[in-house]
Amino acid sequence: MAEKKLWGGRFSESTDAFVEEFTESVSFDKELALYDIAGSIAHARMLGNQEIIPKEDAEKIIKGLEKIREEIKQGKFQWKKELEDVHMNIEKALIEKIGDIGGKLHTGRSRNDQVITAFRLYLKEETNNIINLLRQLKKALLKKAEETVDIVMPAYTHLQRAQPIRLAHYFLAYLEMFNRDEERFKDNLKRIDQMPLGSGALAGVDFPLDREQTAKELGFSTIMRNSLDATASRDAIIEFLANASICMANLSRISEDLIIWNSAEFSFVELPDKLTTGSSIMPQKKNPDVLELIRGKVGRVYGSLMALLTIVKGLPMAYNRDLQEDKEPVFDAVKTLKGSIIGMTKIIEDLKPRKEIMEKSAGGFALATDLANYLVRKGVPFRNAHHIVGQIVGYLTSQNRELESITLEELKKFSPLFEEDALQILDPYFVADARKTYGGTAKERILEQIQFWKQNI
Ligand code: ARG
Repeated sequence: MAEKKLWGGRFSESTDAFVEEFTESVSFDKELALYDIAGSIAHARMLGNQEIIPKEDAEKIIKGLEKIREEIKQGKFQWKKELEDVHMNIEKALIEKIGDIGGKLHTGRSRNDQVITAFRLYLKEETNNIINLLRQLKKALLKKAEETVDIVMPAYTHLQRAQPIRLAHYFLAYLEMFNRDEERFKDNLKRIDQMPLGSGALAGVDFPLDREQTAKELGFSTIMRNSLDATASRDAIIEFLANASICMANLSRISEDLIIWNSAEFSFVELPDKLTTGSSIMPQKKNPDVLELIRGKVGRVYGSLMALLTIVKGLPMAYNRDLQEDKEPVFDAVKTLKGSIIGMTKIIEDLKPRKEIMEKSAGGFALATDLANYLVRKGVPFRNAHHIVGQIVGYLTSQNRELESITLEELKKFSPLFEEDALQILDPYFVADARKTYGGTAKERILEQIQFWKQNI
């Protein structure tokens, strides 16, 4: 049986079935149900307090909404597509439950301020959840850094061995990045945490609403100053998606490193069995699927950002139905980002670095810069030193030899300035610890960073 539309008064024909199907949003915006009810309860209470509707009617409405909330929580609520969206489903159920009085709830309110109120409440909560998850990830990185101060490894540029670093330095680098992600979400919260309720359809409301009261009950920090802005703008939400996109980009980079490090060719790390999966055909395989999926899921989040940017482009003031399309991309981005942060945290917690292999790869030609700097310290201009060491590298490579195999006599052939102490440079730990500048990889600097994060995470 077709449901009577709440807005059916001016229509003489019933809605085309295609239109009903095409325009409905309840199949996805029911995700906002509990936030919508919170908004409605606050609104009803305020209507009663302001005597815009009788207090006892407000109480009946609130009781009815609370019952509906229970039904939704228990999965008993019947959602109906004919009723279009989450708001009208709940309002209709309220009227069925408490009779015509339920129809007073929508006094001084429009779905245009209602929907964005629920959406902001949802996003505020989810942003706080994401901030907490990022904290867990940062803690896992800090712990891994503490465990790996005494492991030296080669750092790469162009995916070519560049210079030795302490593995802790690597984890601390990602700690910095995820910390900035967290800061961005916190900053964005200031702009999400603003209440649009009371803006009506677009121009404000001709009943004496008390917006302070509803804001207080709903826990919003501020009230939106301009009703057109409140109902039409989505920039704070786009900003959330931009932040989510940047965070996913950072997650994809660390995923990629760990995927490479986990390969047989690198063998820098071992991923725990419980976080990897097997192949249905190749029995030897232990695949880093969680990392690959984090890397792959970035596309969904960038896609969400692009979707919202495109939806608002050229959109005339104020609310347009286009804005109904703002929800699914955000729901998907929230789910994807939370899952990706959780997955990465588990991986970092259980990751086992292979010290001997990393250490071995940190030596050799990764130490070439340091050999050049040895000559620089003896007065050779850097460019000339670079050239001399380049010749040494060429000489050894042509004989298939590693840098460690060079003798002092051979070094002297390239420059008489090389002395016994030049051989120290063949130790990657010595070389790493020479990089003592602020932010550098020397052990003392790493320990300072760890100290900083212990106090500031
Ligand atoms: N479902 C709609 C949305 O998500 C609610 C607002 C509809 N407003 C309207 N005037 N049709 O945007």
